[in-house]
Amino acid sequence: MARYRIAAIGGDGIGPEVVGEALRVLDVVADVLGFGCGVERFPWGCGYYESHGHMMPGDAIELLSRFDAIYLGAVGMPSVVPEEVALRGVVLAIRFGFDQFANVRPVKPLAGAPYPLARPDASEIDFVVVREATEGMYLGLGGRYPADAPEVAEIAGLRAVFGRSRELAVQTGVYSEAGCRRIMERAFRLAEERGRLGQVTSATKANAMGHGMTLWNDVFDEVARGHRDVKAEWQNVDALAMRFVARPETLDVVVAPNLFGDILTDLSASLLGGLGFAPSANLTDGHWPSMFEPCHGSAPDIAGQGIANPTAALLTLAMMLEDLGEEAAARAVEAGVRKVVAEGRVRTPDMGGAASTAEMGEAVAEAAAGLAAQG
Ligand code: IPM
Ligand code: MG
Repeated sequence: MARYRIAAIGGDGIGPEVVGEALRVLDVVADVLGFGCGVERFPWGCGYYESHGHMMPGDAIELLSRFDAIYLGAVGMPSVVPEEVALRGVVLAIRFGFDQFANVRPVKPLAGAPYPLARPDASEIDFVVVREATEGMYLGLGGRYPADAPEVAEIAGLRAVFGRSRELAVQTGVYSEAGCRRIMERAFRLAEERGRLGQVTSATKANAMGHGMTLWNDVFDEVARGHRDVKAEWQNVDALAMRFVARPETLDVVVAPNLFGDILTDLSASLLGGLGFAPSANLTDGHWPSMFEPCHGSAPDIAGQGIANPTAALLTLAMMLEDLGEEAAARAVEAGVRKVVAEGRVRTPDMGGAASTAEMGEAVAEAAAGLAAQG
């Protein structure tokens, strides 16, 4: 019997609530399909910060490296820990620590979920954003400097307004050739596997970011030449954002640098019905554990009420099962979620219903178990 070691980090706000439902469904499906999961929970997050002064212990990455997968709820409680400390301390620390460069976010609306567009039909939309997640604008390079600091002497004269400023902040984006290449290779392979439109769209912005995005574009052209079976196209990210709304059915695989991908995937979450429906995986090249976390944050405004929509977390669980090689379980969980949302009997308040997070988790567990048993 295959046995997987899963590290579960509930995190903050609604994180522990949705993770609880994902683990419930995992348990039930593993039971039916006969594989084992040893789940260890880690209490890291803003509460941990309050008592320890840091978001995770110093040996967190080493501890997590012993697991087959990491399942994360959500992190952040801005009233307790500044956002940039909280997120860099957990989400980014894990992504960077394990070189989880491929942030994969499928956009395939569920029948029955709230859908915001008049056209196209939700059923025509089926694309995946493959976001680079270890470099670009997220590296954290730069600093805040008094305007007369030697670090900014070279740039202080670039604009008159800089000279009038008390302080300058520099945030440096770094794009590496190999970093662009590996995420683009991943995107092209995915387009080949999906066999939908056989198309990769690169999100870029070389017209304004002439260093990073011309490197990005050059590598994209090279990678595309190695995959002549796939249609390769690029679009500036501003125009692409419009296309996400105006013609999303024409997308198949979108490859994007870190920050663009972050923004585009909140936009695409709205095509799914909101962040409560948007799953996400942070994948490595296989040497280290990948991390699975829904796109949504900790939603402090509804935390503790038991009303968070666990759909995103459950679809994220399906992505984890697929990555572990438990295809049947992955299919059962995804189909179970789709069934419950389509039937509409059990709906959390964001879907206009009155069901709790746990009621929805139970409904999906039952549906997924049934589907898994049927094979
Ligand atoms: C996401 C989130 C994170 C990101 C934050 C929490 C650092 O918005 O996963 O999309 O920007 O990557
Ligand atoms: Mg985001």
